[in-house]
Parts: sequence; structure tokens; C-alpha cells
Amino acid sequence: MNIGFIGAGKVGFSLGKYFTAHGINVIGYYSQKSESAKDAAEFTGSEQYSNVSELIKDSSVIFLTVPDSTIKQVYDTIKHMSISGKQICHCSGSMTASETFPDISEYGAYGYSIHPLFPVSDKYSSYTGLNDAFFCIEGDIEYLNEWESFFNKIGNRVRIISSETKREYHAACAVSSNLVCALVYESISLLKKCGFTEEETLIALRPLVIQNIKNIFEVGPVAALTGPVERCDTSTVIKHLECINDKQDRKIYKSISLKLIELAQKKHPDTNYEYMKQILSFDLAEDMAKK
Ligand SMILES: NC(=O)c1ccc[n+]([C@@H]2O[C@H](COP(=O)([O-])OP(=O)(O)OC[C@H]3O[C@@H](n4cnc5c(N)ncnc54)[C@H](OP(=O)(O)O)[C@@H]3O)[C@@H](O)[C@H]2O)c1
Repeated sequence: MNIGFIGAGKVGFSLGKYFTAHGINVIGYYSQKSESAKDAAEFTGSEQYSNVSELIKDSSVIFLTVPDSTIKQVYDTIKHMSISGKQICHCSGSMTASETFPDISEYGAYGYSIHPLFPVSDKYSSYTGLNDAFFCIEGDIEYLNEWESFFNKIGNRVRIISSETKREYHAACAVSSNLVCALVYESISLLKKCGFTEEETLIALRPLVIQNIKNIFEVGPVAALTGPVERCDTSTVIKHLECINDKQDRKIYKSISLKLIELAQKKHPDTNYEYMKQILSFDLAEDMAKK
């Protein structure tokens, strides 16, 4: 397998380095800016290409590690080059292979989406975490099982998913990672109202958040749940609603807490959460918060 990358950004750098570290042949990089391709080539011990058709000629697998909004446009350019018999991959979590490469079979090539479930935040250091990444793959049946074995061999967990579920899959990733950032941000704003500095907010929240996440991954979200909703402590929940002044933020608190009742009920099937539900249902809670 000779892997070439179009797009020398965070994922291009990181996957290329990760593959070479596992003895897989990365032939090189083409990118929008020639310095990016040069830096990635140096980092991975591969070649910088200034001509995309040369990179395609030398590769059996071409990763389009460009932004999601650009994948189709890059594909529309390269499909007129000699891609017959080659595999074209992208790393988008939300887009399917057929959405980005709709007519690929007409060109005799095979399309895949290969998504690392991992936050790739840095060109030079993120590859070290990719050992733990779970990969989700979908696309042409021809090489799907080969991709599964490829990642298993280098030590990654991998799952083939259907293109029909790709939206749900990506929503799942966003809820557990991106949406958590919004909750921590809200938590920081509330702590600042108590006089905490920005730095102190992170110091104070770190053990709480990290231990909670550890518990979730050790025992699951139901067993890990603590707090006033789980305890059915309605007076504390009312106090929280009274101090969250912004209507939108109150809505977030209420709708997520309503979801928590589902978990709490599983943990304590004999507890009656009806009054808690009423408090958290929008109209009643708005009235109570106004009082
Ligand atoms: N970052 C993550 O956490 C993450 C995780 C999983 C999957 N992904 C997916 O990985 C893909 C790449 O994301 P990324 O985070 O690596 O983005 P990124 O850091 O912005 O890198 C994309 C690179 O593509 C290059 N590029 C843009 N337009 C191009 C074009 N027309 N031709 C050639 N190169 C072009 C740019 O290179 P220049 O420097 O040359 O301008 C840019 O550095 C996306 O599909 C994304 O959804 C990202």
C-alpha cells in the first residue's frame, strides 16, 4: 500500500506520522500551500509533491485530508486524473463516501470514509494519541474488510458502519465531545459570578470533571450519576433554576436534567420523579424562576 495525502493539515500530518510509525508506506503530500506539504513530508520522512497528478500516479491509496467543505471539490478535480483501481479516502465523520465521491465507480476507483474518533488538535503531537483511537469506516464493499484488518493489525479498534447511520454516528461524537465544552463553559461563567478567576475555575473544576468522566467510563453513565436530580432533591434544582438568569441557559439546564431523570429512574426504579419532571418542564419552571 502506497499512501499519498492531499491536505497537509492536522489530520494529514498525524495520520501520516502514525502510519509511518507502523511501517506503512507513506509516499508524500500535496497541499494548498507548498510549505505545508514540505513540513509534512519532513515530519513523516516522505516526499513533497508540487504536482497533484504525480502524487496520484505514485499512490495506491489517496487520503483527502482537507476540510469537509473542500473534499468534494478536490475529488472533482482529481477524478479526471488516473485514479482507476485506486482507493480515495476522506476522514470526515459526518459525510459518507458516496456523498463525496458519488460517481467514483465510473472512474474505476473505490471510495471510503475513514474517521478517527479522536480530537486531532496539533499537527506535531496528536499522532501519539492515535494508538487509542477507535476508527469508523464506511464505503465501497471491495476493500472494507481489508481496512478493518489494516487497523486491527496496527492495534486500533475499528467498526464498519453503514452510510445510512453516518449522521447519527457523527451526532453521537459531537454530543459526547463538543457539547461538553459548552457545559463546562457555562459552569465557568457561574463560578466567575462567585468570584473565581478564569484560572481558578479550571483548577477547581478539573478534579470534579475528570473524576466524573472516569466514573462514566468505569461504570457507565447511569451508575456514575450523582447530584440533585438523581437524589430527587427538587428544592436544590429550583435554587439552580432561580440563579441561572439567562433564559437560553435555563432551557439547557432543564432539558439536560429531564434527560437525567431517564438515567435516575433506571438507577432508582422505585423513586417517583414526577414532581421533578414537572419542575423541569418548561412552563412551570419558567413561572417558578420568575417568583
Ligand atoms: N481535527 C480533528 O480533530 C479531526 C478528527 C477527525 C476527523 N477530522 C477530519 O479530517 C479532515 C481534515 O481536518 P483537519 O482537522 O486536518 O483540518 P485542517 O487542520 O484545517 O487541515 C486541512 C488542510 O487541508 C489543506 N487544504 C485546504 N484546501 C485544500 C485544497 N483545495 N487542496 C489541497 N489542500 C487543501 C490545508 O492546507 P494548507 O496548509 O496547504 O492550506 C489545510 O491545512 C476533515 O475532513 C475533518 O472532518 C478531523
